[in-house]
Amino acid sequence: MKYNFDEVVNRLGTGSLKWDGVGLIFGDKDILPMWIADMDFKVAKPITDAILKRAKHAIYGYTTVSDSLISAVIDRLKLKYNWDVKPEWIIFTPGVIPALYTAIKALVSVGDSVLIQEPVYYPFFSVIRDNGAHIVSNDLKLINNHYEIDFDDLEMKFLPKKDLLSEPSRIKAMILCNPHNPVGRVYTKEELTKMGEILIKNEVVVISDEIHCEIVYNGHRHIPFASISEEFANNSITCMSGSKTFNIAGLETSIIIIPNEKLRKRFIEVKGRLLSTPNPFGLVATESAFRYGDEWLSQLLEYLEENLRFLIDYVEKRIPKVKVIKPEGTYLAWLDFRELGMDEYTLSEFLRKKAKVGLDDGYVFGKSGAGFARLNFACPRVILEEGLRRIEKAVKEII
Ligand SMILES: Cc1ncc(COP(=O)(O)O)c(C=O)c1O
Repeated sequence: MKYNFDEVVNRLGTGSLKWDGVGLIFGDKDILPMWIADMDFKVAKPITDAILKRAKHAIYGYTTVSDSLISAVIDRLKLKYNWDVKPEWIIFTPGVIPALYTAIKALVSVGDSVLIQEPVYYPFFSVIRDNGAHIVSNDLKLINNHYEIDFDDLEMKFLPKKDLLSEPSRIKAMILCNPHNPVGRVYTKEELTKMGEILIKNEVVVISDEIHCEIVYNGHRHIPFASISEEFANNSITCMSGSKTFNIAGLETSIIIIPNEKLRKRFIEVKGRLLSTPNPFGLVATESAFRYGDEWLSQLLEYLEENLRFLIDYVEKRIPKVKVIKPEGTYLAWLDFRELGMDEYTLSEFLRKKAKVGLDDGYVFGKSGAGFARLNFACPRVILEEGLRRIEKAVKEII
């Protein structure tokens, strides 16, 4: 079956946060939304079929996870990453953010610190702060238009400080984002190994947010942190989902994998206090996606890769002073507007009011995101072209 990703589907009136929420979020209904990370594409047919079948049953009460879904997850992780996962390691949560809240609450006490790598997906900040912990950022380094891990800085985070008054609180956990939102890095095995060794040596648990794991482009390979070794597995909480890959984020179903029994028990105990049971439609959609969604997914990845080529080419040839940080994974492009010489608030106003595009402002991803903006290119090419045309026009008017 051939899917048509060029089809423009009108999402207005469906309660879409991306489209119907644009007036509320950006203050202008004429803004073209290219922000929040969902896609403007219809899902794979097997997913819709599974949801319709479940809907016909007409009772939607509290739900448990079936053995067949657990085995679909295990099969997929084996197939995609050669990672052997035991059924009892798998926990479902209504979303990855709720899982991050649960994990931080389970692992970290008020006053402890949690590592992140800015610029990074901004809800990580509130997840940490809401639990009374401090944020410590091992900022990524931008070298020749490519973000890299600053290992020296990471090691330094664990050195005792000379000035006792500024002694940092104990770093208990790290929220790793891989593939990385917003900079699009898909970390190599070498990078993950080096990072993991430093963290394990310092007794830091890695909460690995791998929600974008299946949107990875040619030449790159996603490696689950926990799949690297038993030691890594035992020191990790992995968060995955079919939500980004199969465009089912609204169904709020995520897969959390915790091999270490002690960590898992603690997580489950906290989860029981915080979170409800999974969404029945999310469960059947995930199972169907994992079992029958690959035909759609391979066509999607081809389309996204073409969109990315189109975007890079367009910006290079037609939008002066703007650069694209080429993502290795995710359908999010991190655009560098720094040469325009605007401060972050002026850039934000410029994109909204002049260009009339709704991107995510770079500075919300952390200080090092100032001067950048994130553009979601998971949309039909005509919409992408329209967004780029708007940015081109606005930039050309001011230079
Ligand atoms: C890195 C990352 N983690 C988590 C989420 C949100 O996850 P959920 O909707 O499952 O809470 C997103 C959504 O964009 C994301 O990019």
